[in-house]
Parts: sequence; C-alpha cells; structure tokens
Amino acid sequence: MAKARTQSMRHIDEELLDESTDPLEESGHTVDSSDEEIDENVADEMGRFEDSFIGINKRYRLINRIGEGTFSTVYKAEDLEYNKYENRWDVDERESRKWQSPAGRKRQSRRPHYVAIKKIYVTSSPIRIFNELELLHDLKNGDSVCPLVTAFRHQDQVVAILPYYQHQDFRDYYRDMTVSEMRLYMKSLLTALRSVHQKRILHRDVKPTNFLYNPQHSRGVLVDFGLAEREGTDWHKCVCTNALEDRRYQIAHSVYMQNQQAGHPTTSYPKTDNRSSRRANRAGTRGFRAPEVLLKCTQQNTSIDMWSVGVVLLTLLTRRFPFFHSADDIDALLEITTIFGRKKMKETALLHGQVFETNVPTYSENGHTLEKIILWCTGRTNNDKTGPKKELTPEEKEAVAFLYRLLECDSAKRITADEALHHAFITKAYEESEVDDELVDLVEA
Ligand SMILES: Nc1ncnc2c1ncn2[C@@H]1O[C@H](COP(=O)(O)OP(=O)(O)O)[C@@H](O)[C@H]1O
Ligand SMILES: [Mg+2]
Repeated sequence: MAKARTQSMRHIDEELLDESTDPLEESGHTVDSSDEEIDENVADEMGRFEDSFIGINKRYRLINRIGEGTFSTVYKAEDLEYNKYENRWDVDERESRKWQSPAGRKRQSRRPHYVAIKKIYVTSSPIRIFNELELLHDLKNGDSVCPLVTAFRHQDQVVAILPYYQHQDFRDYYRDMTVSEMRLYMKSLLTALRSVHQKRILHRDVKPTNFLYNPQHSRGVLVDFGLAEREGTDWHKCVCTNALEDRRYQIAHSVYMQNQQAGHPTTSYPKTDNRSSRRANRAGTRGFRAPEVLLKCTQQNTSIDMWSVGVVLLTLLTRRFPFFHSADDIDALLEITTIFGRKKMKETALLHGQVFETNVPTYSENGHTLEKIILWCTGRTNNDKTGPKKELTPEEKEAVAFLYRLLECDSAKRITADEALHHAFITKAYEESEVDDELVDLVEA
C-alpha cells in the first residue's frame, strides 16, 4: 500500500464542469448495521475488495456496506490497529475518557472502534481524488465536518478512511420533524458550513445524504467533499460582481434591452451565434443548485451552499423529498420560476448577464409565496371558502422568514452561514434546549 498520490490541483477537470447528479440516485441508507445480516452480494463485493486491495484486511475488518454515492462505495469497518496510533479524530473516545479515572485513561481502549472506508471509484480522475483528500485534510479541525483519518492507494484504487458516524436515513424522519427539531438540524448543518466557508471552501453538494444526522443527539456531520472547491478556482469576471451603476449601464446598453426598446415583442436570436458558449462549474445535485449555478455565473462563491440549505429547509417544511426534481438545468430553472415568478427570474438572470425568457403561460409574473407552497404541500388548502382560513403555525412562520433569507435569488443578498447562526430562527434552538435542560434539572431535583 502506498500513500495517496499527491498532485497539485490547478484546474477543475473537464468532466467536473458538467456534473449534475440526481437526488434519487443515492442510497444514503446508513443505520447502525453492524449486527444486521449482510447481503450475499455485499459479502462477495467486500471479499473481492479485500482480495484486490492487498493489506487492507490487516488494518480493517470490513463489516458491511453502508452507503453508495455517485462517486464511491462506503463500508463500515473495525479499525484493527486503533491502539497503534494517536486518534485525535475519535470524538466519542475522547468524550468517554473524560469520565474515566486517571488510571483508566492510561489503559488502551478495548472496545471496537469503527471507521468508514470510502472506496472512490477508479474512474474518478486523480485530480478530483486529490482535491477531495486535500480539502478534507484542510478541514480536519472544522466543527461538525467529517475529518480525514488517513488514505491509502493500491494500484488505481484509492480509499479514504473516515471516522464512522452513526446516523439515520433522512427519509425516515423528514416527514415527522417538529419545527424545534428543524432548528436543531439547521443549527448543526450551519455550524458545519460556517467552518467550511471560513476556509473559503465551497462544498457544492449540500443535501441530506451528505449530512449525516443523528436525531437522537441532534448532531450531524457534513461529509462528501468530492465536488468541493476553493473559492476563486477558475473564476472569470461575471457581471454580478460589478458595481450596481456599472451593471445598470451594461444592461441598459445590452442587445436585449435595445431590442426591447425597439419594440420587439420577444427577444430575437441571431441565426448564427458566433459567441463562444459560457462555461462555468455546475457540479452538484439537481434540485439543490442555486440559480446562479444554473445561470452559469463564472464567479460562484460560498453562498451557493446556502441556497442548498434553503432547499433542505423547504423539504422539511413541505414534507416533500426531493422537493425539486428536474431533468436538466432548464427544467430546474423553470421549477424555481414556478415559485418565484418570471419577474424575479428575469432580474436574477440579468444579474449574471443572461436573459431569461419563457413563453410557458402557466408561470405567473410574481410567483407564489413560500407560505402558500407549504400550505399546499401539507394539504392545508383554503378550498372551502366557508371554513376557517388555514394558516401556518407561528413557529412555521418564523421558519418561513428564515427560509426567505436562504432562498434569496440574488446571491449577494443571501444570508451567510455565520449570519444564519445569529438569526432568530436558529438562536431560538439554544433557548429551547436551555428550557429542556431546566426541565431535566427539575425532574432530577
Ligand atoms: N463517515 C461516514 N460515516 C458513516 N456513513 C458514511 C460516512 N461517509 C459516508 N457515509 C455514507 O456513504 C454515503 C456516500 O458517501 P459520500 O461521501 O457522500 O460519497 P459520494 O461522493 O459517493 O456521494 C453517504 O451518503 C453516507 O450514507
Ligand atoms: Mg454523497
């Protein structure tokens, strides 16, 4: 076994530019499967992996397959050489040692220690693999971010060793979460993103299967930095970073505006367009990508992740997963248009020097309020005019106010992770847990 290949990353590889995965393609079914029966096929697959990756079984005992993402297969394994190393990554062990006697603390840990072995598909480019490992390494002390324990390569196969996190499948709890529980979920996710964004890293693929949440402990860990990148990678000037006056001037003098002023009812298109097509990183999962990603903004920043957080909260409030389910980028833009309306989408496109036009008559000019969408999705429609008006609960209204700050089409106005952690919707999570603590104290007294 050799150490993972290191190679400097200068460019995003071509394949990454057009990536977009389907939210339903992943299993994400991790539960504590150690005592579950192992599927025969999985046992065979693990056997083949152990045979081909020489030496892996001396260090790890493979237990089960726990996840299958788009770019990897993940196994739960017991770390057989745990006591030979310093294991600062093992938060659980540190926690349990805190309560031991000084003599106990000196003794070697006897209980089994688990890791997640992420077997990255051999078809992934070395640049991409290196990028993921390097960013994971950089984020090793980040709060609520999965650190990298180590990595190995055998021939063309690279594996990343990560601490194993017990969590529950999102599909098992998203329909039943109370607003208080949503606050805690969001707080944990935002804490992770704050530490990622502080390092000027974009995660690019924020979604439930990449946030391993344990509802019992109200704690989650952000994983999967396979598409992550440093802010500024491959940036080219985008109109959205111009000063407002400059942008207004550019828009007023654009071909589009001149056509409009000349009274052409719709934009006319040149028969042969000689302009080179715009290229931008659009990696991510369909349905979670921010409008500026879909509009190919060439200066995307950490705020793209905040939009994805908004989609997660919208999913929780509407109890619909996946909320957006588009076939391609245009479809995805139209789904957003259904909610926010044509006017907002036109403005958003212009921000990035693009023109948004649609002749589909069902998209309204101003869209719908998020309140209305949540009421529709949760079967609380006001069809019966004589009955009492159905409304969101006061708590849901607080959530919606926060949601508007996340699902802000103009990325410059979107709330940041740090600001979000100070937003009333999230700070209430602290207050509520303090009340819970007081109740526990009372019971104990
Ligand atoms: N550290 C971990 N602990 C427990 N399960 C994990 C861990 N890392 C990944 N998984 C499981 O494996 C799945 C795929 O991992 P991920 O890193 O997202 O790979 P991919 O890049 O293929 O999407 C996750 O959705 C999760 O269910
Ligand atoms: Mg993933």
